[in-house]
Parts: sequence; structure tokens; C-alpha cells
Amino acid sequence: MGSRILPPMHYLIRFLPSERSVRVSPGTTLLEAAREAGLPVAQTCTGEGICARCGMQIVEGSEGLAAETVRETTAKARNRVDTRLRLSCLLLADRDFTVTAPYW
Ligand code: FES
Repeated sequence: MGSRILPPMHYLIRFLPSERSVRVSPGTTLLEAAREAGLPVAQTCTGEGICARCGMQIVEGSEGLAAETVRETTAKARNRVDTRLRLSCLLLADRDFTVTAPYW
């Protein structure tokens, strides 16, 4: 019996309103996915959840999503970020997502 090689798992990340989409490996941040799709993402830290500029709204894919960490909640509060946004530098692709950002 031969072994079967399965294709690597990828997740579809779709961006609104542009309808651009990319397939990314598990563990890719939503910020990285947006850049791969050619979309700009505001950022003044190095993706450490400090500046809170990279917020995105999860349109689809939020079911069962891990709750915000204290770092994320604190960064958002300190920078007066809309509570509906999640910091895309901290969100890892572990499912398909559809997202949007206020500045797209
Ligand atoms: S890039 Fe700074 S908090 Fe996400």
C-alpha cells in the first residue's frame, strides 16, 4: 500500500470591498495576507500588537475565534481603536476569513 501525499493546507482570505483574495499557509497573519493581496495596512510597530493601527473587521470567520489577548485589548483601548476591529498582526490564519478595514 503506497502512501498518499496530501497537498499542504491553505486558507482563503478574502478582502472587502475589493474582493481580492489570497490563499495562505496556516499561521500567516491577516496583515501578511493583506500585503500579499496588494492591500495597504497601516502599521507603526513591527507587528507586535503595540500600535493598534492594523485593525481589520472580521466579516466571516469569527465563529470560535480566540478571544482578544490582554495585549490586544490594551493596545486598542490605548489607541482608541473601534472595539469591533481585531489587530491583523496578531490574528493567524487557522480558517477561511473574509475581512475589511475602514481605510480600504
Ligand atoms: S502592526 Fe502594530 S499593532 Fe498590528
